[in-house]
Amino acid sequence: MTLSADVRADLLRMAEAFSPPEPQPEPPAVFDPFGWRLKARPIQLPPTGDYDVWYVRGGRGAGKTWTCANAFAELIVAHPGGEWGVVAPTLGDVRTTCFESQDSGLIRALGGRVGPGGELLERGPHILRWNRSTCELFLRDGGVVYGDGADDGALRLQGKNLRGVWADEIGLWKQWATAWDESIGFAVRKAPAKIIASGTPKAGRPGLALVKRLLTAALADPHGPTRTSLLHTRDNMANLAGAALTRMRLLEGTRLGRQELDGEVLDEADGALWTRDPDKAEREQLGLIVSERPEDLRVELLGRTVVALDPSDGEKDGDGVGFAVVAMHLDHRARVLHSADLLGDRALGPAAQVREARRLFDLHGADRVVVEKNHGGRWLVDLFRTLDPTLPVKVVDATQGKRTRAEPAAALYTRPGVVHVGDHEQLEDQLTSFTGAAGEPSPNALDALVWALTELRPTAPPAGGGEVVQHAYRDDDAPGGFVAWG
Ligand SMILES: Nc1ncnc2c1ncn2[C@@H]1O[C@H](COP(=O)(O)OP(=O)(O)OP(=O)(O)O)[C@@H](O)[C@H]1O
Ligand SMILES: [Mg+2]
Repeated sequence: MTLSADVRADLLRMAEAFSPPEPQPEPPAVFDPFGWRLKARPIQLPPTGDYDVWYVRGGRGAGKTWTCANAFAELIVAHPGGEWGVVAPTLGDVRTTCFESQDSGLIRALGGRVGPGGELLERGPHILRWNRSTCELFLRDGGVVYGDGADDGALRLQGKNLRGVWADEIGLWKQWATAWDESIGFAVRKAPAKIIASGTPKAGRPGLALVKRLLTAALADPHGPTRTSLLHTRDNMANLAGAALTRMRLLEGTRLGRQELDGEVLDEADGALWTRDPDKAEREQLGLIVSERPEDLRVELLGRTVVALDPSDGEKDGDGVGFAVVAMHLDHRARVLHSADLLGDRALGPAAQVREARRLFDLHGADRVVVEKNHGGRWLVDLFRTLDPTLPVKVVDATQGKRTRAEPAAALYTRPGVVHVGDHEQLEDQLTSFTGAAGEPSPNALDALVWALTELRPTAPPAGGGEVVQHAYRDDDAPGGFVAWG
């Protein structure tokens, strides 16, 4: 049966309105070698009865990875031998999060223990060997668990005879169709043939299509082959501290919070200034976020590189510090090289903000650090003078409202005059949900980005296209700090 787009949308809305039925705790007879079921909240337990796919949806820090690692370990131990797979957005994520996480990883769930560098300190009853360079976990029962990244389509799993797969953060998978349909779909073909998936749905990401597909299937047949559970971040508060709690408080009651804390499926915010959807960008003249891999960056630098800092005076509880590093390149595009919003116990005190600005300045060979005057920026500049007097710092003042300041920056993305190099998940979530409405919390990475772009003022390439030979030279007195193409 093929569902029309309208019917699917209705089903999804209904899915949001009704919480899925909570799985009941299993009776004690259930196989539970490590006692994780005793610690799990009822909603974290696998579905009862037979299923093919179990999608654990939830907010950030809600316990998705912990749940799936334990449920997957249980599956592996209950079915000795054979091949298994773990897939996450990148190979690095599989290694460090899915296998090695000391709190939530598969090695721990199987009774082993890893050190801070990922080395296997204790094997426990089931693990024989962990090869972190090939991302292979060998088990005493002869089984082996292969890890791979979805961004390359999880091609390594093709041709394997897998008994089960754990698929983490499917909402962030770039090559989800290849990874899910071609690699995992064909390879999971030995009993018990189960897929356990987890992740926070992310508006505007390609992986949202996979999330919607699983939710639609689960809703169409709640006792069928696809099941889903929903974990809320607030229910896992007892296991969270510091930055995660601060972030939670900041996001509670906001639109982004519905996605990030409650795992709700949202589409990009109406009225947001940026989008990841090319059609929407064209239709509604929004800033289109275009990304590039760092290894593909071949264009030479044209002008300046700026570090922007949206500081925090630490007075307002939970206020964060935003950083952005943006450089102008010869193809007239500004490239965002770094972005961060540091909150809670990851937030930096004033001296650490100065040190981080210096680190980014040196790392990227920048010309200037731009610091917003508000929120303590004024005395922060004095601190810069004292602690790091040779760092060229420019103080900027916010005289216009946030939306007014952000609009020209968003407009630059439409050409696109701005490209994101590498992963900027946090910044992009802020951009695609920022409407500038009254009372909307201040997105710090977005603010820093806007300051960097305002400072660089990228201009449009000359009309007519074709290759243009540019001459640019620095001139601190010129608008934007350099004179371009004379
Ligand atoms: N039932 C539980 N009992 C004890 N600790 C738990 C439980 N559930 C989750 N945790 C702990 O909560 C923390 C967050 O869990 P986890 O890493 O699974 O979250 P997540 O939803 O995958 O987060 P993210 O969105 O960042 O990927 C971890 O320290 C994990 O060990
Ligand atoms: Mg996780």
